[in-house]
Amino acid sequence: MKALITSGGRGTRLRPITHTQNKHLIPIANKPILHYALEYVSEAGIKEVGIITNADTTDVQDAIGDGSKWGVDITYIPQSAPLGLGHVIKISEDFIGDDDFIFYLGDNIVVGGIERFINEFERAKSNCHLVLAKVKDPERFGVPEIEDKRIVRVEEKPDKPKSNYAVSGIYLYDKHIFEAVNNIEPSDRGELEISDAHQYLIENGYEVSFSEITGWWKDTGKPLDLLEANRLVLDNLESKYVDQSIDQDSTVLGRAEIAKSARIINSNIRGPAIIGKDCVIENSYIGPYTSIFDNTIILNSEVEYSIILDNCKIDDVDFRIESSLLGKDVEIVKASPKPKTHRFIIGNQSRIEII
Ligand code: DAU
Repeated sequence: MKALITSGGRGTRLRPITHTQNKHLIPIANKPILHYALEYVSEAGIKEVGIITNADTTDVQDAIGDGSKWGVDITYIPQSAPLGLGHVIKISEDFIGDDDFIFYLGDNIVVGGIERFINEFERAKSNCHLVLAKVKDPERFGVPEIEDKRIVRVEEKPDKPKSNYAVSGIYLYDKHIFEAVNNIEPSDRGELEISDAHQYLIENGYEVSFSEITGWWKDTGKPLDLLEANRLVLDNLESKYVDQSIDQDSTVLGRAEIAKSARIINSNIRGPAIIGKDCVIENSYIGPYTSIFDNTIILNSEVEYSIILDNCKIDDVDFRIESSLLGKDVEIVKASPKPKTHRFIIGNQSRIEII
């Protein structure tokens, strides 16, 4: 069994964060999204991993390296343009060869890993195994039509979904998927759609089995959806901190992971929350479901249910910052009292909500 993981595409739905960062490298609970995929395949005992990258940059290669950190051997497969998930599989044929493989969309997070799906695929002895999740908005996904516990059709982002299931970003295949992707045509949006490849398998008599998951996340449009992924992961956080990081005037309630080099001074941390290396939290409140990445300083302020990336500064803000996503090097500081105005210096496609 090999693994194929995607990290290409343009991440347009997660702008402005993706203006400066590949979406697969955005940290959720202080860990890049792509690390989760690598942990899952490594835990499942897979050693040979192909990662699809955009051909015009080496940002993923630079961040991930050769895979030794996860005990896997990574082959990078550059894709000339985001021509669809069918195209991704097509260009990976040399890497996969005749092996079975798990195809994992690198922007998905699934609580509990993937080993159980590999086992179910092997038990079903099918040609393709799809992992389904119940969703409120199936029209955003590949949607299966199910009759008598069998998938009889799969449609990509249908206007009128035939079930309230989404095909999640976890697929298991044998070599027949290459026959499928080599026999389908690009869709109206110019992509070789993975759902059309699944439909090809069904129509040509191949066995398509499925299982269902809970605890699955996939970005569905807005940057604030990342907060939901953060909540999902922090819900399973285990406490990890040393007393030296926290002074006597501070309290930590609930589960928190605090880097050894972070300093918590006269502050209240209410978990689940994670605070990265060299952060300073002083005279402040950090509430549940907050992730603060390395080198960030929070002084005289309150932050809850938020993701703050590295090198940010929040100083003397006298309202609580909530449901917020701050990119790298962002500053929110108290304005000088006169004139009494809000002053903004904001990059393209940012969003600010004020009372
Ligand atoms: O996440 C589940 C959904 O993923 C499925 O329900 C849909 O059937 C499937 O088409 C896919 O839909 P999305 O529109 O969400 O796919 P997206 O464009 O976000 O790409 C998914 C991943 O694949 C992401 O890691 C980016 C990467 N990608 C995408 C394309 C189109 C590539 O590496 N190359 C590509 O050409």
